[in-house]
Amino acid sequence: MSELAGRVVIVTGAARGLGRDYARNFAREGAHVVVADIKGAEGAAADAASAGGKAIAVDVDITDKASIRAMMDRTMEAFGRLDVLVNNAGLWRGLAQAGLLECPDEMWDAAWKVNVNGTLFCCQAAYPLMKQNGWGRIINVSSVASAGGGDSYGITKNAVEHMTSGLARPLGEHGITVNCIAPGISAFEGAKGQIPGFERIVAGAAIKRVGNTRDLFGAIRFLCSEDASWVTGQTLHIDGGANAR
Ligand SMILES: NC(=O)c1ccc[n+]([C@@H]2O[C@H](COP(=O)([O-])OP(=O)(O)OC[C@H]3O[C@@H](n4cnc5c(N)ncnc54)[C@H](O)[C@@H]3O)[C@@H](O)[C@H]2O)c1
Repeated sequence: MSELAGRVVIVTGAARGLGRDYARNFAREGAHVVVADIKGAEGAAADAASAGGKAIAVDVDITDKASIRAMMDRTMEAFGRLDVLVNNAGLWRGLAQAGLLECPDEMWDAAWKVNVNGTLFCCQAAYPLMKQNGWGRIINVSSVASAGGGDSYGITKNAVEHMTSGLARPLGEHGITVNCIAPGISAFEGAKGQIPGFERIVAGAAIKRVGNTRDLFGAIRFLCSEDASWVTGQTLHIDGGANAR
């Protein structure tokens, strides 16, 4: 039986894309999944439930603390506990193209509010629930773009990695680990058209292909397992060696 069976898991940004796949994979392993997104997560929740576990859809705006509080309340009402939080919701479309000197203010603000504030606010709201059971796993989501840091997106993801390291000590004393995955370009609709230099980036990696949810969920499963109970504050780069020397 999977170690994830019966675990209560929140995945944010799970209406579509990678988050939707994570939710389905958790459910397939028997977890109870809160499929959370700013709106329209019902289809993804039905998809997850059909894969095996229990799943509910919850609307949440991770930039709004009251909305996050409501998501936690709904989680407790439905499942009575919280074991795992995957902070997957993020803004990236259009951001990688915006150089620092030209980045429109509203784009910069939105990137920080969702990618940085949203990730931190969800950690802040989740940890008291995990603390009740003396056990928890938080998985933050960075990106291969964090290494460059030359665009607003990469800088927000760099901040998520820094935040992950900074949360490890205060959470560790409550039996909660916090780690980060930093995916390379991974399968999603329209990848080629939406990422500048797509072909060059893929060709420049040590393993020349785009990632898939098996690559990413495998790492998440490990970080949620007892095998990883002494791993915290780390960022795991899952990108085919995109920045290997
Ligand atoms: N796809 C990739 O190749 C790739 C690579 C590296 C990192 N990532 C990261 O992985 C995560 C998922 O990527 P994706 O490609 O599936 O993205 P996506 O744009 O398809 O999905 C992101 C989801 O986040 C949700 N979201 C945005 N703002 C929100 C808010 N304020 N509150 C709640 N939900 C909100 C969106 O509604 C959307 O459903 C992101 O954090 C992204 O930065 C993706």
